[in-house]
Amino acid sequence: MARATRTVWCGECGAVAAKWLGRCPGCGAWGSLSEARAETGTPVTLDAIDVGRLALQTTGVSELDRVLGGGLVPGSVTLLGGEPGIGKSTMVLQALSAMAAAGTSCLLVSAEESAAQVRRRAARLGPLPHGLLVLAETSLPAVVSAIESTLPSVCVVDSIQTVGDPAVTSSAGSVAQVGHCAGALTALTKRLGCVTVLVGHVTKDGALAGPRALEHVVDTVLSFEGDRHHAVRILRALKHRFGPTGEVGLFEMGEAGLIPVADPSGLFLGDRREGVPGSVVVATVEGRRSLMVEVQALVSGPARHRRTTTQGVDGGRVALLLAVLERQAGLDLSNCDVFVSAVGGARLSEPAADLAVALAIASAAVERPLPADLVAVGEIGLAGEIRQVPHVPRRLAEAARLGFGCALVGASSPDVGGLDVRRVSTLEDALACALFVGGATARTRHGARGRPGLQRAARPPCRVIARGAG
Ligand code: TYD
Ligand code: MG
Repeated sequence: MARATRTVWCGECGAVAAKWLGRCPGCGAWGSLSEARAETGTPVTLDAIDVGRLALQTTGVSELDRVLGGGLVPGSVTLLGGEPGIGKSTMVLQALSAMAAAGTSCLLVSAEESAAQVRRRAARLGPLPHGLLVLAETSLPAVVSAIESTLPSVCVVDSIQTVGDPAVTSSAGSVAQVGHCAGALTALTKRLGCVTVLVGHVTKDGALAGPRALEHVVDTVLSFEGDRHHAVRILRALKHRFGPTGEVGLFEMGEAGLIPVADPSGLFLGDRREGVPGSVVVATVEGRRSLMVEVQALVSGPARHRRTTTQGVDGGRVALLLAVLERQAGLDLSNCDVFVSAVGGARLSEPAADLAVALAIASAAVERPLPADLVAVGEIGLAGEIRQVPHVPRRLAEAARLGFGCALVGASSPDVGGLDVRRVSTLEDALACALFVGGATARTRHGARGRPGLQRAARPPCRVIARGAG
């Protein structure tokens, strides 16, 4: 409920005055004060608020709807960000085609590609939808008038960096232009009550002017991620005013566009070779789902100085784990080149992958395979302790479903049926448990003591290697 009151404010500096004056008390400007009617709201108690129901616009792309918590919200603006070439245009065209085919009025503003290019891409993705409007245009006033005249339920602007307003002097893609255009399109969306999706490019470090600066203007921010050289793509909601964040959508980029992956657990295990040193599987969690990801390590040398190369795993984290392997578990890796990779274009950012990364490195260093049906989950502390991580039951239940027989986890992890749960409290225990079970011999190309450079290793796990040698 709102009640009208009278307010006097300055058109120059926005200061509010108690009564009309010839000169603004804030900025000193003459004749700048004017009287305006302002609405004052009356607060209501929380439980008396009518929440109504959000009428969601489903996109027809199941994994996109999952991330959005059901669909797009009318009157909302969604930013779809991602690196160039990751598949943003493909994703929006698939969604628009599905919505148009279902009878929703849709407009695609293509500011990067010609209408013919859009049609060619659409033909690659499936039957051409009827009724999907396409406007190849980069000028904001033309885009706004097209939206006002066609009144689509769903409008996509691909991309916001290539749209510009001639009234703004800076070039398209600049922070000023992107902010201005996004602001105008957001105001239009709220006024018309349609759904707007803005596509935005971000570089690897997210530094490009635009999308990051827009995050507070829009209602929802989606991030489309993946490795361009691999087929797997992950869609995340970084901000969502109308639903949960943290849920992820998984896709595979194929010949005919993006294919939603409903059961992604085995996605990263496709070409796995079992019984190879340096390979171990980590049970990760993405959103509400658990994914098994293979971590591979290769240790080569001797080298003059250690060089560490990583892919899909944070280099700083690997450096930390190497230091812990050396200091707390007695492995000497100082004269080796160490390569660590998360297979299949996966990116491991959670500390829960520490144990798997450390095991993979140790396994590669002593050239001894880990059990093929082992999954590892645990964060490693600087003192070499294995720390508890969230969602262990969910991770292990999924591992058991996929046929893994044994899980190496932190000491305080709960039991999960279906697989043999081995609790370890230190990295040293973990190596002893997974790599040196039963004191078996570690036969390596360099003799049973392992690689040159590993001989300093004299603490329990490596002493087992030495015992095998004797
Ligand atoms: P695109 O959607 O143009 O990426 P973005 O808009 O994020 O820049 O997709 C780019 C890549 O996807 C391009 O290298 C070709 C590939 N692609 C496929 O592999 N299959 C397909 O069906 C399509 C349409 C694209
Ligand atoms: Mg594109």
